[in-house]
Amino acid sequence: MSERPVVCVTRRLPHVVEEALRARFKILQDPSDTPLDADGLHRAFREADALLTTVTDRVDARCFAQADRRATLVANFGVGVNNIDLAAARAAGVAITNTPDVLTDDTADLAMLLMLAVLRRTGEGERMLRRGAWPGWSPTGMLGARLTGRTLGIVGLGRIGSAVARRAQEGFGMRVLAWSRSSRPDDAGRLRVERVATLAELLERSDIVSLHCPAAPETRHLIGAPEFLRMPRHGVLINTARGDVVDESALVSALEAGTIAGAGLDVYEAEPRVHPGLLSREDVVLLPHLGSATRETREGMGYRAVANLEAHFSGRALPDRV
Ligand code: DGY
Repeated sequence: MSERPVVCVTRRLPHVVEEALRARFKILQDPSDTPLDADGLHRAFREADALLTTVTDRVDARCFAQADRRATLVANFGVGVNNIDLAAARAAGVAITNTPDVLTDDTADLAMLLMLAVLRRTGEGERMLRRGAWPGWSPTGMLGARLTGRTLGIVGLGRIGSAVARRAQEGFGMRVLAWSRSSRPDDAGRLRVERVATLAELLERSDIVSLHCPAAPETRHLIGAPEFLRMPRHGVLINTARGDVVDESALVSALEAGTIAGAGLDVYEAEPRVHPGLLSREDVVLLPHLGSATRETREGMGYRAVANLEAHFSGRALPDRV
């Protein structure tokens, strides 16, 4: 019987996914769930036939360029692949896959949750209550703003952006504007979304701006000081995409100056570090990268990675080739 392929799994995964992996492959894994450092990752490329990586692995050019590299596939556990040097992978002929679709609904739900949490001041209210500072109900206490009927501006109308648009329209009667770098008119048509020609127009006309574009060199700091200046003073920024799409220092300055009214963030420029200027603010809601964090989605992501690994080692087309 031929040897089973060796797969380095860089983090602990849901139990059922680890079982599925062990049934098919020889697994290299640190049971302590400590992220691999650069040397560990480079070594894994020499010791395994494939890697199952996550957003916490910086898969750099050196991983691919090693003369004694053994790995021929990186199956990323996540839809975003900005943790991987794609150009270096392409040059070395190493295939990359991701896990789209399965996390769309949960990430879209979290974007709606952040909108509600910022507008209705739920984080602030909960903090007040927990520290014993709630004076009781009052007609004017902790007044927030209504989400229903507001205008939402979506940056990036892919799967997740479209799922947010649907929730906003059907659940909250919102008017939805969208701007993306690429054009997918089918989505806009089906969703009754108004596509705007420029990011500037979207920022100027939206009460809430929600980011759903991938992280790439072209989208790094897409939202910075000039963009905040275009938003209305009551404007709110929501980011469930990737931290470096927003210039975090400029965001802190915009909040301090009252240029915008608030922000709801699930992702940060240098995770797990969060800009200290955000931590003490009551007008921001900060979550620890929870977009895809449901049991259902994390298992779905795992099965999707397993399917890509299986296809690779049986010579079939990769279902989620990037
Ligand atoms: C993704 O899938 O890109 C999520 O952000 C985390 O895995």
